[in-house]
Amino acid sequence: MKAIALIPRKPGSLFLGELPAPELDDVPDGRGVLVRVLRVGLCGTDREIQAGEYGAPPLGCDFLVLGHESLGVVERVGTMVTELMPGDHVVARVRRPGTSLYDAIGMQDMSTDDEYQEHGINLLHGFFTEQYVDVPEFLTKIPAGIREIAVLTEPMTVVEKGVTQAFEIQQRLRIWNPKIAAVMGAGTIGLMATLLLRLRGVDVVTLALDEKPYLNSDLVEALGARYLSTRNMSLTEAAAAHGPFDLIFEATGFSPLVFEAMQALGKNGVLVMASVTGGDRTVEVPADAINMGFVLGNKVAVGTVNAAPAHYRAAVQDMTLAEALYPGWLSRLLTHPVRGLDNYKQAFDLLNGREPVIKAYIDVAPLN
Ligand code: BGC
Repeated sequence: MKAIALIPRKPGSLFLGELPAPELDDVPDGRGVLVRVLRVGLCGTDREIQAGEYGAPPLGCDFLVLGHESLGVVERVGTMVTELMPGDHVVARVRRPGTSLYDAIGMQDMSTDDEYQEHGINLLHGFFTEQYVDVPEFLTKIPAGIREIAVLTEPMTVVEKGVTQAFEIQQRLRIWNPKIAAVMGAGTIGLMATLLLRLRGVDVVTLALDEKPYLNSDLVEALGARYLSTRNMSLTEAAAAHGPFDLIFEATGFSPLVFEAMQALGKNGVLVMASVTGGDRTVEVPADAINMGFVLGNKVAVGTVNAAPAHYRAAVQDMTLAEALYPGWLSRLLTHPVRGLDNYKQAFDLLNGREPVIKAYIDVAPLN
């Protein structure tokens, strides 16, 4: 079967390869689930892997099959599988348990291992292929009503985890009731963070580079949030005009902005850092002022990566809720479909091109 792969850390090595088809018995004890891949999304992490900045192949292999934002349909199940049936739509979780205590209790998103295993990213092949076999424990069932948008589940889990962590951390304040948040970045993650915060009843100001109107600013405003271009107003100015921000969600992929966010954050506020930045950028920061603001303002900054099973369940629930409250909004993120694995170059070119892309994805097989 076909698979889109590359040699990690080697820019320009993307290729369409051939892999042996998986067998149900690849998973022991009748617990295998054979899944046909239907649709796989691309994101900034794929861009970084493609640029040679991130990622590693499975042990003993010199290539890595890409793709971690998957949607598939169950084709066959082993004799001991009761959780899923053929015809069920599923999304596979990305990170697999390692050896730390957190991995042992199902919180591999919080692993303290030096190395973690993530499908399509680090040490495990991904889903840009035709079929895979997994155990039901790592598959999240997708209700029929959100099938068309379910390729967005994995990025939504990242946002779910970040926002949930922020709310959990803020329990330290006993009565925290966030009124206004800033989201930095209006790509898929920034837009989904805006959505989730609106679903939680928070007012949101979303900041990104481009001036409105364009699709991303329309999407922000369709949620009743405010869109600001950083060409006209910096985050610091936005905090003075619309803040103080109880929460800032950073999702621009541009790490220097984290330090501006630290300063713009309101007292008792929480900053969620969600950008994976594989580069080696350095920047000079007003260290005393930032430190003083954190100390005297009881602020928190938290990094967030990946997601636990509960975040997958929450993502499915919130996407279902979003379909009820903002019908069609999530499908407007699916801007760039590419048909078939054979057209992989076209899909990956979209990641690096000038065309504004919210979500590019490959339709590996027909959805219905
Ligand atoms: C993925 C996460 C992953 C992270 C770091 C993100 O693009 O969505 O699942 O944990 O990259 O590798």
